[in-house]
Amino acid sequence: MNTDSHRKELLRKLSRNLMVSVPVMTVVAMAGVSAVSEHGLGLIPSAEAAQGEAEGEAKGEGEGEAEGEGEGASEAMKEAVRRPEGYEPYDGDAESLARKGEALFNDTSLSSNGLSCATCHTNGAGYADTFSNEYPHFVAMGKSDFGMDKVHLDEMVQICMAAPMAAEPLDWDSEELAALTEYMRIEQEKFRKR
Ligand code: HEC
Repeated sequence: MNTDSHRKELLRKLSRNLMVSVPVMTVVAMAGVSAVSEHGLGLIPSAEAAQGEAEGEAKGEGEGEAEGEGEGASEAMKEAVRRPEGYEPYDGDAESLARKGEALFNDTSLSSNGLSCATCHTNGAGYADTFSNEYPHFVAMGKSDFGMDKVHLDEMVQICMAAPMAAEPLDWDSEELAALTEYMRIEQEKFRKR
């Protein structure tokens, strides 16, 4: 994806801030977790919360762990993952958006680190239990890395673009964002039926 220099600068700041957390989250999401957490590594709050949740041990703890931490993304990136003023999502046919969203979900070119959403989230993997909740809702990574008490689904797509994918958030009015958001809505329905 081509970027102008402002966006590049945002990305650089973010990568600096999340240099530690991204590989950790990758391990958490991909490796089935247990080996790491049993040794109680001092992980950043989001990874810790996600890790606990992923193991089903931290029911109800995610919130407490993540709160009060001012760590995470740069101010610029915190703003970039929030819905902008006067936000109007791309308006398209839901079915065609879902199809495009599925392709994007598997597309490693969306990230700067070779990952796709599917790397972490195939078959409902990698989510905390909060994914079942009605949006907007509390998400540990949203709070710990971006200071958000609640996130909308499109903001969650942007958060995963910015943090684990180490990329810039998508354009807010883009078809890509609408497509991924629609696809994630369908993924959420499946997740709820687990
Ligand atoms: C390196 C692994 C990784 C990649 C790649 C990744 N994510 Fe995530 N994602 C996570 C983790 C970890 C969580 C759990 C965060 C939490 O609960 O604090 C998560 C949570 C989510 C959630 C649910 C949040 C909730 O609880 O409501 C959505 C939606 C999501 N990701 C979408 C995406 C999309 C879309 C992409 C691709 C653009 C993506 N993710 C790529 C690691 C990843």
